[in-house]
Amino acid sequence: MSPDELKRKVAEAAFIYLEHLVQADWVLGIGTGSTVNRFIDCLAESSQTFVGAVSSSVQTTERLKTYNIKVIDINDVSEVMVYVDGADEVDPRFALIKGGGGALTREKIVASMANKFVCIVDESKLVDCLGDFPVPVEVLPLASHTVATQLSKLGGHPKLRSGLTDNGNCILDVSGLEIDEPDYWERTINDIPGVVTTGIFSLHRPQEIFVARADGSIDHRVGP
Ligand code: 5RP
Repeated sequence: MSPDELKRKVAEAAFIYLEHLVQADWVLGIGTGSTVNRFIDCLAESSQTFVGAVSSSVQTTERLKTYNIKVIDINDVSEVMVYVDGADEVDPRFALIKGGGGALTREKIVASMANKFVCIVDESKLVDCLGDFPVPVEVLPLASHTVATQLSKLGGHPKLRSGLTDNGNCILDVSGLEIDEPDYWERTINDIPGVVTTGIFSLHRPQEIFVARADGSIDHRVGP
């Protein structure tokens, strides 16, 4: 199956699973990326009722609005019942690298508010140890140089991504890190002054993951 077909398959599988759980008074959290876009398509085609959605990016907000799905400001909700998002890498214990699409900060905020985080990926995202995919780190523009220096001291090779995030910040994509202890690495990178967020999602891991296999079959895994 093509990568696009796998994204559609895994999004549909997660949607069918959640369709039975979602209640009319629920607020959903919606991530960012091409896999989540397929999930939004499923939402748009269904008659599922829910209060609305908290969005993790400008891109997702625009897509939700196109489908007349109500978008609720993050500050106006205290609880997100379920958050659905993709990932760039997933380790065997469900720690993630995210932020390939640049939306890591809002994604992490919404993930932290969610009662349940459901991650949807194809099997190309599964790894034994995080770090082959460069870790995105959102950084205040005025601190990009000093943060890059600190990341180099930790053994990383930071590269400044062109453009700014939805929050007006820069992203450093850091290759060369072997994220064998994701909790430690998430905290260590977050502690560098000037860092807004690291794309390591270890302290707020998904509870459930849907994985599309190359043959189109779906694995539904519940977290350790
Ligand atoms: C965006 C993300 C995405 O979830 C991640 O990049 C995966 O995207 P895709 O579903 O397009 O492969 O973290 O910031």
